[in-house]
Amino acid sequence: MNILIIGAGGFIGSHLSERILKDHKNWRVTGIDISSKKIEQILGEKNFEFIKADIMKDLDLVEERVKACDVVFPLAAVANPKVYVDDPLRVFELDFEANLRIVRWAVKYKKRLIFPSTSEVYGMCEDEEFDEETSNCVTGPICKQRWIYSCCKQLLDRVIYAYGIRDGLRYTLFRPFNWYGPRLDDIDNPNPGSSRVYTQFMSAIKHGKDIQLVDGGDQIRCFTPISEGIDALMKILENEDKADKRIFNIGNPDNMMSIKELAYKLLEEAKYDPTRREMADRVRVVSVKSSEYYGEGYQDVKRRVPRARAAPQLLL
Ligand code: UGA
Repeated sequence: MNILIIGAGGFIGSHLSERILKDHKNWRVTGIDISSKKIEQILGEKNFEFIKADIMKDLDLVEERVKACDVVFPLAAVANPKVYVDDPLRVFELDFEANLRIVRWAVKYKKRLIFPSTSEVYGMCEDEEFDEETSNCVTGPICKQRWIYSCCKQLLDRVIYAYGIRDGLRYTLFRPFNWYGPRLDDIDNPNPGSSRVYTQFMSAIKHGKDIQLVDGGDQIRCFTPISEGIDALMKILENEDKADKRIFNIGNPDNMMSIKELAYKLLEEAKYDPTRREMADRVRVVSVKSSEYYGEGYQDVKRRVPRARAAPQLLL
């Protein structure tokens, strides 16, 4: 199988590329990205080809590669809430426009598409657990720019679904729920909002800075180790017959915790580690208003828990 991973140099792309090469010695992976920093360790592998390219500019090249593959993962996207608020048009141009082109090439060349939707499509849905088939997608007013990411992803989900019906596009949509692990974001950048919360707190601890709880930190998330996320993606990749035209939440309702609990858990772990204790002892946990941390265009998801009934690791 020839697998094209667009965004192979990102968090999910780098782990997925490594795993495919490890588990399937006769499959080929082509990785496209603007940077190879996170995949230096696989650049020399014989079944891996890296192409440095920008999906916003190198359209002919990317189209050629979609044409040449069997299955495409378009994983290049902005996925950081601070950017949704500060630069919503960048989110629209990359996450929506550039990815829509890739979706259309998958339709044109009849390729299998495995596309990253997001837990954010459920937005402020009030269901106890978000369900792929029944939960509503709930976003806020236009002045709350945070929702541009959710809307871009939701519309792409709807477009892909419609191509499946009209043109027989073979696709699977997957929705990561707060995946975390090595290479998530830049742990050496402790600036507020530079990373998603797991890296942000680890970075604060590493640099002896305050951990900032947005609006007190009562928000609920379910954190999923990247290894479990990749296990689920491999099931999807290896079982097209069962995964075709389906949407999968990929998260674990048993890992539910508040952001405040996460902060104290990570801090406690660091205090038991002699190499990190000194810095961890300097860290204070403080509360900050969301309007100060992210800006007025932010609105939060108070509770985000997946129903994992259809999770690929259970189903396939
Ligand atoms: C994230 C991102 O939108 C995407 O990466 C992704 O699609 C999705 O969730 C997912 O992985 O499921 P969110 O969970 O809101 O959204 O983003 P984080 O930056 O990880 O923040 C989680 C919570 O921690 C939020 O309530 C935020 O306000 C809070 N937070 C964040 C803090 O309290 N302090 C911080 O320093 C950073």
